[in-house]
Amino acid sequence: AQRKQIDAALAPFLLSLETLREVKNKMRTELEYGLKRETQASATVKMLPTYVCGTPDGTEKGKFLALDLGGTNFRVLLVKIRSGRRRSVQMYNKIFAIPLEIMQGTGEELFDHIVQCIADFLEYMGIKGARLPLGFTFSFPCRQASIDKGTLVGWTKGFKATDCEGEDVVDMLREAIRRRNEFDLDIVAVVNDTVGTMMTCGYEDPNCEIGLIAGTGSNVCYMEDMKNIEIVEGNEGKMCINTEWGGFGDNGCIDNIRTKYDKEVDEGSLNPGKQRYEKMTSGMYLGEIVRQILIDLTKQGLLFRGQISESLRKRGIFETKFLSQIESDRLALLQVRRILQQLGLDSTCEDSIIVKEVCGAVSRRAAQLCGAGLAAIVEKKREDRGVDHLQITVGVDGTLYKLHPHFSRVLRETVKELAPQCDVTFMLSEDGSGKGAALITAVAKRLHNVGQ
Ligand code: BG6
Ligand code: GLC
Repeated sequence: AQRKQIDAALAPFLLSLETLREVKNKMRTELEYGLKRETQASATVKMLPTYVCGTPDGTEKGKFLALDLGGTNFRVLLVKIRSGRRRSVQMYNKIFAIPLEIMQGTGEELFDHIVQCIADFLEYMGIKGARLPLGFTFSFPCRQASIDKGTLVGWTKGFKATDCEGEDVVDMLREAIRRRNEFDLDIVAVVNDTVGTMMTCGYEDPNCEIGLIAGTGSNVCYMEDMKNIEIVEGNEGKMCINTEWGGFGDNGCIDNIRTKYDKEVDEGSLNPGKQRYEKMTSGMYLGEIVRQILIDLTKQGLLFRGQISESLRKRGIFETKFLSQIESDRLALLQVRRILQQLGLDSTCEDSIIVKEVCGAVSRRAAQLCGAGLAAIVEKKREDRGVDHLQITVGVDGTLYKLHPHFSRVLRETVKELAPQCDVTFMLSEDGSGKGAALITAVAKRLHNVGQ
């Protein structure tokens, strides 16, 4: 009887191939909506033009600063790029903490904090006097009218600083630098982390035309033909589109596969009703889904002797790294129990088996859904190019992809199954998106100087 109840709770997480195909098709429909002028304003997959019009070609050079805000770590970087036959990239970086009260305080406090970190970094590197060009990786949806302008559409993930939505983040950064009145910087580009990742990988592999993040959040960018981007003038060449696919389903189109646990996670989040697909596929939320299932199973008397402990009531206890550890095949059940104990959950051996099973069901669904989304992207690219067979590289980053023992494999298998005519190579980004942001800055700076 116990088995039956557990199976019943986890059954909605098992997605058939047919369901995954449906998800792929719906994603394709939403991608097209986002590109069309008439439907674009209300599209849930926003398809934001980035004004990045090509991948790196090896001629980029110079010394740049980069900021990387919005993932697990906030970094400031110095990136030195050499071009030509001895092309190379050297990077120095420092990680800074962003306290919760700053992530969710006022916009001014957030940007003052960022500038404080830049000041510390410049001091640390001994380069305070240099007015370096800066590329800003800002991993949130921005509406851009050029490479150096980006209006924040809305915060996602764990950020909720006031007075930022609808404002230009480059202006906010410039103003914070002016307020501090200690150094000057030339802010040249604002870049989404997916775009930075695509460029980082594109430096090594020119066939890399897609950037994927499976981390705290979930998102994809890809090179699109200009003629398909109705809201940007011009029909020649390509431009990178930041899909912001995390918002897929915000119109209810995937409600048939959302479970009551997904709904609970959504309601308890900073942005209820928004980023529904992201909340089923990314690191920030998977642990929360697991926690909701465990609470439910405990209430049914199937776990933890029917006692909901204080820690199980705590939002956010299951971080990606714990899920990854629990699901590791090399780990003995005793070690799973030890991890649960660290989290304040006293478990029996049977409990630990069930917890592992729950984690597995949630992360597997996440990888499959992400794979279905990616299959829609590669299939679109294949059709647009008019070929039977497409060979393409996807640059990938993010803690979920990197740390989880099964996520990347299930993702790859799903793409293969749902887009059999595409031969997709996954390239792990080793250097984060800061490197890509610097490469974009190098190109933007060169074009700007030529224009002057
Ligand atoms: C990093 C990028 O490498 O990957 C970040 O430089 C990005 O900008 C991150 O947000 C995504 O991973 P996570 O798991 O830290 O959100
Ligand atoms: C969220 C953000 C998006 C970012 C992604 C991965 O979905 O809205 O801009 O790319 O997280 O960090």
